Amino acid sequence: MLVDTHAHLDDKRFDNDREEVIKRCVEEGVVCIINAGSSLSSSIKAVSLAAEHSIIYATVGIHPHDAKTADGYTTELLRSLAGKDKVVAIGEIGLDYHYDFSPRDKQQQVFREQIGLARELKLPIVVHDREAHGDILKILKEERAVEVGGVMHCFSGSKETAKECMDMDFFISFAGPVTFDNAKRAKEVASYVPVDRLLTETDCPYLTPVPLRGRRNYPGNVKFVVEEICRIKNLERERLLETVVDNTIKLFGIDITR
Ligand code: NI
Repeated sequence: MLVDTHAHLDDKRFDNDREEVIKRCVEEGVVCIINAGSSLSSSIKAVSLAAEHSIIYATVGIHPHDAKTADGYTTELLRSLAGKDKVVAIGEIGLDYHYDFSPRDKQQQVFREQIGLARELKLPIVVHDREAHGDILKILKEERAVEVGGVMHCFSGSKETAKECMDMDFFISFAGPVTFDNAKRAKEVASYVPVDRLLTETDCPYLTPVPLRGRRNYPGNVKFVVEEICRIKNLERERLLETVVDNTIKLFGIDITR
C-alpha cells in the first residue's frame, strides 16, 4: 500500500519506458501516484496519464520555474484542465529562490493567482518552496490558502515553518532527501510532524533516495522514504502506510482501494 503523492511521470526521462515503469509500480504495491503538473504541457500530460491508469491522479499548475511564461490565458486553460476527470489539486505552485528561473515578483504573482484559482474551484494546493519559506508563509496567509489546505511538497523548512503550515491545515510531505545522511533538519522535522499530517512522495525522476542515489528515481522508491520515516519515528511500517493512505484520501478526496 505505497503512496507516491508527488511524481513527474510525464517527464521526458520516462519517454522510453513509461508504461513498464507504471506496471512495475503496480507489481511492487504502489496503490496511488499523484502526478504533478509543472507547466501547461506537463499538466495536459498529467491529465492524460490519469485517464489511462487507474492508480494515477493528476494535479495541474505552473511551477515557479515556468512562472515567466504565464499570462491571463494560462489561468483560463488551467481552469478548464482542472475540470477534467481525476484532477485532485492545483500544483505544483510556489516559489523557488534557489534557481530564480523566473523573476521573483512574477513567481509571487503567478503563485497568488493559482491559489485564487484553487479557492474558486475548491481544490487543495501542492506547494513547492525552495529557499523562500518567509514569502511562502506570507502569501499562503494573505491569499487565505487555509480555505482549501494542501501539501508542502518535499518539505525543506524548519519545525517552526512546518507548524505554521500545519496550523493552516497543510500536510507535510517527505521525499528522498529525508534519507540522505546529511539531512539533519529534514530528519528532525520528520520526527516532529505528527503521523496524521504526513505524506510520502518521490518527486521522481529527481531526488532518488539512499541507497540508489545517482539513478533515475521512480514511484516504487517511495519505500525507502517510508522505511526512513518509520526508523526516525519508531513506527510500524503498516501503521505509517495505512495513515498515509488515510491522509491522501482526506486531502485529495480520492478513493484508494485497499
Ligand atoms: Ni515536483
